[in-house]
Amino acid sequence: MGLGTTQIKPMPTFTPIGVIHTPYAQKAPYQPVEDDTQEFRIDLNPEYEPGLEGLQKFRYIYVLYHIHQLQRPAELTVAPPWTENLQVGVFASRSPARPNPIGLSVVKIRHIQGSSIYVSGLDVFDGTPLLDIKPYIAELDTKTDANLGWVGEITDAEHLALHIRGIPHDF
Ligand SMILES: C[S@@+](CC[C@H](N)C(=O)[O-])C[C@H]1O[C@@H](n2cnc3c(N)ncnc32)[C@H](O)[C@@H]1O
Repeated sequence: MGLGTTQIKPMPTFTPIGVIHTPYAQKAPYQPVEDDTQEFRIDLNPEYEPGLEGLQKFRYIYVLYHIHQLQRPAELTVAPPWTENLQVGVFASRSPARPNPIGLSVVKIRHIQGSSIYVSGLDVFDGTPLLDIKPYIAELDTKTDANLGWVGEITDAEHLALHIRGIPHDF
């Protein structure tokens, strides 16, 4: 196939591999609150338990999930509610209302018991379907020259700091 020709391949259907349990029924923080002491538990379906071997040696994991209870359609541009009418593209944002509503959170492992992973605060509703877990590997994943992008241009730094720390709102 020549360059520039797009071949549309059928996508696989992803089946949840577990369920995420959080204290949040309908409202959740915009991003994980790491020092929230409540229980956050990822229940992997028991048949996948062998896949957890070695994970306990990591301190942090990536959690990927289906943002399954969205009440609004995907938007290509979004105005984060904590900004002053700023519009950015959905792919330059963490908005949950995206063409493929897949969420990504980095959380700390508290402990693993059987097929349940107890973690630090997650920013999802109770019952959110789990799609995948991957280890966060310092050497691979820490980018020391990462920046704030458009977020760094916002003037209300105090408000921004609250949201970066995951303070809930009505998003
Ligand atoms: C802004 S998203 C960020 C998700 C993830 N940390 C990310 O960056 O991909 C987090 C918001 O998604 C919404 N949310 C969380 N779980 C959801 C679910 N299962 N269905 C619908 N909306 C959900 C909540 O409003 C929460 O504040």
